Amino acid sequence: EQIKKGSYDHFMQKEIHEQPHSLTTTMRGRLKDGGVLLGGLKEHLKTIRRCRRVVFIGCGTSYNAALAARPFVEELTGIPVTMEVASDLLDRQGPIYREDTAVFVSQSGETADTLLALDYALENGALCVGITNTVGSTLSRKTHCGVHINAGCEIGVASTKAYTSQIVAMAMMALAIGSDQISTQARRNAIISGLTSLPSCVSGVLKLDAEMKELASSLIDSESLLVFGRGYNYATALEGALKVKEVALMHSEGMLAGEMKHGPLALVDENLPIIVIATRDACFSKQQSVIQQLLSRKGRLVVMCSKGDASAVCPNGSCRVIEVPGVADCLQPVINIIPLQLLAYHLTVLRGFDVDQPRNLAKSVTTQ
Ligand code: AGP
Repeated sequence: EQIKKGSYDHFMQKEIHEQPHSLTTTMRGRLKDGGVLLGGLKEHLKTIRRCRRVVFIGCGTSYNAALAARPFVEELTGIPVTMEVASDLLDRQGPIYREDTAVFVSQSGETADTLLALDYALENGALCVGITNTVGSTLSRKTHCGVHINAGCEIGVASTKAYTSQIVAMAMMALAIGSDQISTQARRNAIISGLTSLPSCVSGVLKLDAEMKELASSLIDSESLLVFGRGYNYATALEGALKVKEVALMHSEGMLAGEMKHGPLALVDENLPIIVIATRDACFSKQQSVIQQLLSRKGRLVVMCSKGDASAVCPNGSCRVIEVPGVADCLQPVINIIPLQLLAYHLTVLRGFDVDQPRNLAKSVTTQ
């Protein structure tokens, strides 16, 4: 049943709209009595708590999901987190120690670069944790322990529902690792309650479908699209841009808003469309100031903000605004990516490209 399109035109479209359900299955049976139960990690939690650092390793969308998880893993566990693109770790033969916990993120569990990085980390004696959607995959067999994301089969080459389920699986992992810390109990409770309401918030944000189609029609002839994010939503900017690039075949770059003045600002004019992610969190006022700086250079802006914040992000109505429902700040990336997935989908259809099988790409990259 999962491998039929049903009433949808494309698998990517179906998988985007399936997210309230896929997130529910990711969490099913795992949020218990105000805590988190992850059977695949239970035996190793003590070792992870004692590790020197967590190293996240993945490629493409899976790397971006890990980047989205980084801030809350640091916050809830107090363990430093470093990020590695699998191929780059291998190119550099970067240091991995036996005191490290190496977390491998892969939808398929068969990506060659990720598996080679796994062999490398195993050789170096790290504890290896797998976060994958594929039970029985090489990744799930070779890692010491892990979490299956249970998002259901993903057919579209562009990863959508696996991305949001990966973030939620890593949120549960962070909650489980940090569960011995009394000082973060209230924060953990707030995140658990945010997780519980996430599927219904996702259903709410999916109602933006027609609005995103309309936005896509205004962008079909653009040559390029920039996406600015920071903090929890730096990963959203990278992932949104990756979606547009890989399926709509439009040049697109995700950028750290804090780096804007260090180069990208030179690109800004009245023609280049720029999406700024400015939902409520600790970085909100910094994003307001980014918007002001872009507007003063006549930037063509689309601002994603929390519901009710349109006038706070764009006082004189000079930019287009996408309002999204608010959840716990660290889970907001799960909501914020969805309008960008919809945008990439509609841009692709309107530009006449193959949605589920973009040229030159494979669902699982099993060669180096
Ligand atoms: C996602 O839309 C891409 N097709 C691609 O970046 C993918 O995420 C990457 O190849 C990693 O795949 P994996 O999650 O199966 O390891």
